[in-house]
Amino acid sequence: MTVIAVISPKGGVGKTTVSVNLACTLAANGRAVRLVDLDPQNAMRLHLGAEPGDTNGLIHQTLQQTGWYYTEYDSAYGVSFIPYGKASEVERITFEAHLAHTPGWLRDNLAELSSAPGMLTIIDTPPGPSVYVQQVLSIANLVLVVMIPDAGSYATLDSIEGLLDYYCANRTDFYGSYYVLNQFDAEQPLNRDIQSVMQNTLGERLSPYPIHRDESLSEALAFQQPVWQYAPHSQAADDLKQVSAWLLKRIDR
Ligand SMILES: Nc1ncnc2c1ncn2[C@@H]1O[C@H](COP(=O)(O)OP(=O)(O)O)[C@@H](O)[C@H]1O
Ligand SMILES: [Mg+2]
Repeated sequence: MTVIAVISPKGGVGKTTVSVNLACTLAANGRAVRLVDLDPQNAMRLHLGAEPGDTNGLIHQTLQQTGWYYTEYDSAYGVSFIPYGKASEVERITFEAHLAHTPGWLRDNLAELSSAPGMLTIIDTPPGPSVYVQQVLSIANLVLVVMIPDAGSYATLDSIEGLLDYYCANRTDFYGSYYVLNQFDAEQPLNRDIQSVMQNTLGERLSPYPIHRDESLSEALAFQQPVWQYAPHSQAADDLKQVSAWLLKRIDR
């Protein structure tokens, strides 16, 4: 099993959208994929056609000391999916305190699940540093940082690199950390400038394929479909295909 952490310094950049669509693209190409939503927003389920009233998730399984097995769903798109769950404020606080005191929580829960050969586990996180990011960076084999091409995101690069150094750099099971620009607009000079500055700083750690700003992605979400299915000939579907192939080359070495 290979664990891919999806992180970003800021919210609303498209982390969840990218996680889900990468997972579905990889699954459509025959890869075994599991998605884990480690964000208290519990929003990934909206992309995957979850039942509106279903509140189940990994937070409840953890607080009740049962296994994640009880909260793993088979989504319609060939991806198995573990939601965060809908929780009260007290539950969230209790849960986060538990995570802070149980550094092996994520590793142990993933180890108990059955995993198909070559399975990719893609884990979505809340923006910025948190107990969730701590757990996932401590075990990720590969990290994908989602950024938007603006000056504010670029300014956070140092602190992201600091996090990656702290949690990942010295592990022998770490393949590397990579960046992808999302909501890219090639018509905007600033977008292209940020891309070239990031390219200079990160070299081949920056995906040569940005994911363009494309309303098909938001529309696909409204229809609870991955973009390759909702709009197979869209720019975003093509971008995601390129990015997933580029990432696979970093994994299947
Ligand atoms: N490449 C894109 N083009 C257009 N809209 C996008 C793109 N990526 C994300 N979005 C939209 O941006 C919003 C935030 O995306 P989301 O994945 O929830 O961000 P995050 O998980 O980083 O908070 C959503 O409405 C989503 O549909
Ligand atoms: Mg999100």
